[in-house]
Amino acid sequence: MYELLKRAAYPRSSAYDPVWLMTNMMGPCSVWLTEALTADVALAPDLHVVDLGCGKAMSSIFLAREFGVRVTAVDPWISADENEARIADAGLSGIVDAVHADARAYVPPDGGVDGLVSVDAFHYFAQEPGALDVLTDPVKKGGQVAVVVPGLREDGWPTHLAGHWQESFWTFKSVEWWKQLFNGAPGLRVDRVTTVDWGLSEDWISWADACDQWADSVGRQPYELEAAMLRADSQRSLVFVMLNATRL
Ligand SMILES: C[S@@+](CC[C@H](N)C(=O)[O-])C[C@H]1O[C@@H](n2cnc3c(N)ncnc32)[C@H](O)[C@@H]1O
Repeated sequence: MYELLKRAAYPRSSAYDPVWLMTNMMGPCSVWLTEALTADVALAPDLHVVDLGCGKAMSSIFLAREFGVRVTAVDPWISADENEARIADAGLSGIVDAVHADARAYVPPDGGVDGLVSVDAFHYFAQEPGALDVLTDPVKKGGQVAVVVPGLREDGWPTHLAGHWQESFWTFKSVEWWKQLFNGAPGLRVDRVTTVDWGLSEDWISWADACDQWADSVGRQPYELEAAMLRADSQRSLVFVMLNATRL
């Protein structure tokens, strides 16, 4: 499992404790996605970033540890107390703050925040008409918006994945769909839309295999479904869509 989680494509993330990654995961490797998403974003210690749908705050901890930024970690499923304990364990109390809230109800400090990051969560709350404007409103003019979501290379039902499809996958939209959503937001200038290959990418297969090995080692039933789905996809449909934009 340790070897599977040391990836050349993610040098910063490779320094993180694999057991910590496994214990706190809520989906495909959150710190890998955060590392890819922020590769070209200027992050400096005096900036304040909001992390919407942070889950167990792994991306928030990564941002604070790697770049020294102050982070507000917002999530409605994980309590603020639970995340504060994890943040304290990481030695980042006072630099990362946990807020228990729906992303659309987040109230920023006066003057707003310098940036918005969201990892593997925006597809749950940004798709309704008008939601993107509400979500990006807290970002100061000139601030960065950086979002990564699971999605599909192209529109349309991937029939080769029918046997692997799960209910929540209705939220998976195409690269073009996300591009149009962001291009249609009057308050944003889209700087970059790219993808992280998911299906049959060596990294993601390794992640899925590591999850199964870890489950086995702690006496849980290996999940296996994700690895099988990635292998069945062979990079045809499944991607992570990365969107970088500037608040106008
Ligand atoms: C797949 S998990 C990813 C969590 C985390 N970002 C990560 O990568 O480990 C999706 C997250 O979206 C969050 N979420 C769902 N609906 C939300 C909403 N309306 N506002 C904020 N977060 C939401 C959930 O609480 C959950 O933590």
